[in-house]
Amino acid sequence: MAKKNRFSGRDYISVFDFSTEEVWKIFKLAKAMKANPKKYRKSCEGKIMALIFEKPSLRTRVTFDAGIKQLGGDSIYLSPLEINLGKRESVYDVAKNLERMVDGIMIRTFGHDIATGLAENANIPIINGLTDLEHPCQAMADFFTVWEFNKKLEKVKLTYVGDGNNVAHSLMLAAARIGLSISVATPKGYEPSQQILEMALQGAKKTGAKIQVTNDPFEAVKNADAVYTDVWASMGQEKEAEARRKIFLPYQVNAELMKHAKKNALFLHCLPAHRGDEVTDEVIDSKNSVVFQEAENRLHVQKAIMHELLRD
Ligand code: CP
Ligand code: NVA
Repeated sequence: MAKKNRFSGRDYISVFDFSTEEVWKIFKLAKAMKANPKKYRKSCEGKIMALIFEKPSLRTRVTFDAGIKQLGGDSIYLSPLEINLGKRESVYDVAKNLERMVDGIMIRTFGHDIATGLAENANIPIINGLTDLEHPCQAMADFFTVWEFNKKLEKVKLTYVGDGNNVAHSLMLAAARIGLSISVATPKGYEPSQQILEMALQGAKKTGAKIQVTNDPFEAVKNADAVYTDVWASMGQEKEAEARRKIFLPYQVNAELMKHAKKNALFLHCLPAHRGDEVTDEVIDSKNSVVFQEAENRLHVQKAIMHELLRD
């Protein structure tokens, strides 16, 4: 079977795989699906998604599984033990098998090259459900959530405080695509990847987005409309957790730090949260915390993404 062009809009591996127009198309469709889910009950009728997980998950698994079923399709969950990608079987061979069996693949894995390898070799849509480099569906749901509160998304400033990880990367790229301001504050040595920063800065030239990276969390949250954090040690970095706790403590999102943002600034977190580490209870349980709405929006946004990528 001919190899598809992975930038034809049929894969979603990186935030940058969608143009600005496509991001807005997804947001508008997700809004419509959230308001009237019944209308879309057959929009992926008969379509099967393989859900490959090489790391644990609550939200990604449930929202993709429930999402495709709500659209009239079905899913097959493949746990880390089942495929053992790259070890039991090569990424190429897995791609060549699954493209004949299912209509799309969501993959959560370690190396980003595993997701791009699947996309390059499978002639069906591939969706990134988190790699070490990016978490694009998360960033889409995050900015969709902010949009629900701030209709003029381009005027928003979002500040991310913590590790310059996959979530930070996708937020930076999404900010660049949409054209809003993002400030990322990390400890020294934990900044976002230089390659992602350069991609974001390049993308920002087209949309007028402002991208800032700093080591000062107080400077970063100044005038923020939304403050975001994520775990200090991501999946796969568990052994570093203790050492990181000391380094990241000055980057905890607590009531004192939130005072430096705009009054009533939203608080976001991709979850799972380690309460008492990257965020205190008083912030995550505050009236401006939108973490559960954000988690729910994974469902609506990913339904819109699957609808767009899987349709004939
Ligand atoms: N935010 C997120 O991706 O959650 P899970 O790891 O539970 O899927
Ligand atoms: N940065 C986190 C995100 C979890 C949703 C991780 O990769 O574990």
